[in-house]
Amino acid sequence: MDRRRRRPAKELAVARLFGGFVLAGFVGVSALAALGDAPIRGMLWVAKDAPTARALGSVPTECLKSPADPALAARVEVGRAAFRTPVLLGGQAGRAGINCETCHRDGRGNPDFLFPGVSGAPGTADVTNSLFSTHRGNGVDDPKPIPDLSGPKAKLKISQAPGEKKLEPFIHGLITEEFDGPEPTPAVLDGLAAYVRALDPADCPAKPRRPLGVGLLMADARRALKAAEAEATAGDAATAVVMVASARSRLGLIDERYAAPTLAKPRAALRAADHRLAEAQDALRRRDPDAPKRLAAWLTASGPLEVELNAGQRQSLFNPARLTQAVKRRLPG
Ligand code: HEC
Repeated sequence: MDRRRRRPAKELAVARLFGGFVLAGFVGVSALAALGDAPIRGMLWVAKDAPTARALGSVPTECLKSPADPALAARVEVGRAAFRTPVLLGGQAGRAGINCETCHRDGRGNPDFLFPGVSGAPGTADVTNSLFSTHRGNGVDDPKPIPDLSGPKAKLKISQAPGEKKLEPFIHGLITEEFDGPEPTPAVLDGLAAYVRALDPADCPAKPRRPLGVGLLMADARRALKAAEAEATAGDAATAVVMVASARSRLGLIDERYAAPTLAKPRAALRAADHRLAEAQDALRRRDPDAPKRLAAWLTASGPLEVELNAGQRQSLFNPARLTQAVKRRLPG
């Protein structure tokens, strides 16, 4: 079947979908308002008839082999956080909040991904699409299935043999050309390749999926901040800033599900915690030697924050029943 047909209307369709906020170039509270009644941004790239529990209520478990060598393990952690950072990608994708993990959920695939103008069937994406890329846009509609990066290495197209160094230039091209992102720091690029190499089908947990919730997202945020601390201490402030951005985006995924008026208090605590991370990023940027201390203090305070968030979780959109209602409201019929 020849899918290569021109689709000049795709930019228009997406401009309509995102309203003014792509133009404003800012994804925040006001941006969410501009998204109409989509309470969860991820709803924008989920196929309409996708099962809610799978598409928005849970994630696949991660098949990550943690390397025994502490230096390699640290690189994998940098990559793991970078993989979950929208600011890594530029242009439309980054502003919409898309990151590597949006398509490769927990390092796997995503059968429910459907982004107007980018996907064909659910679970596919055209990563040479002019919508995401001003470099590689080839003007043709060419969506490919999103590969499971945790599948057998022999089934993947790009060799992951460390000696061949094929993965690094491939990922570099993805970030800077296909997704119009800024030049990644050497540690981020190296980390992403190390993370992808550490995904291994032999390490897939027995349970294929787990519910998406506060605990999981806070654990991701903490891992990213530990990587940030290590990078900051080693003097790589630029990489540390990306790691903090990863943590902040995980907090954002909690925030959007805590909009119920009854959750005003835990949400305010979450936003205050996010604000402290923004300050830590500023401290990193101005090479303030106290920046690692700020991160350490945040990590200590994150325990009580998580307890407070957990207490409200049933009233949030992490509650499967409330999530289903919200999806129904968003997508009537
Ligand atoms: C919009 C969805 C999307 C996003 C975001 C995305 N990918 Fe992919 N990725 C794909 C698709 C689709 C392919 C398959 C392309 C093909 O077959 O030509 C792919 C292929 C790959 C491959 C090659 C797999 C193989 O067969 O060897 C790697 C590695 C990869 N992506 C890593 C990443 C990383 C790292 C990021 C973030 C910087 C990322 N991807 C972001 C959709 C995405």
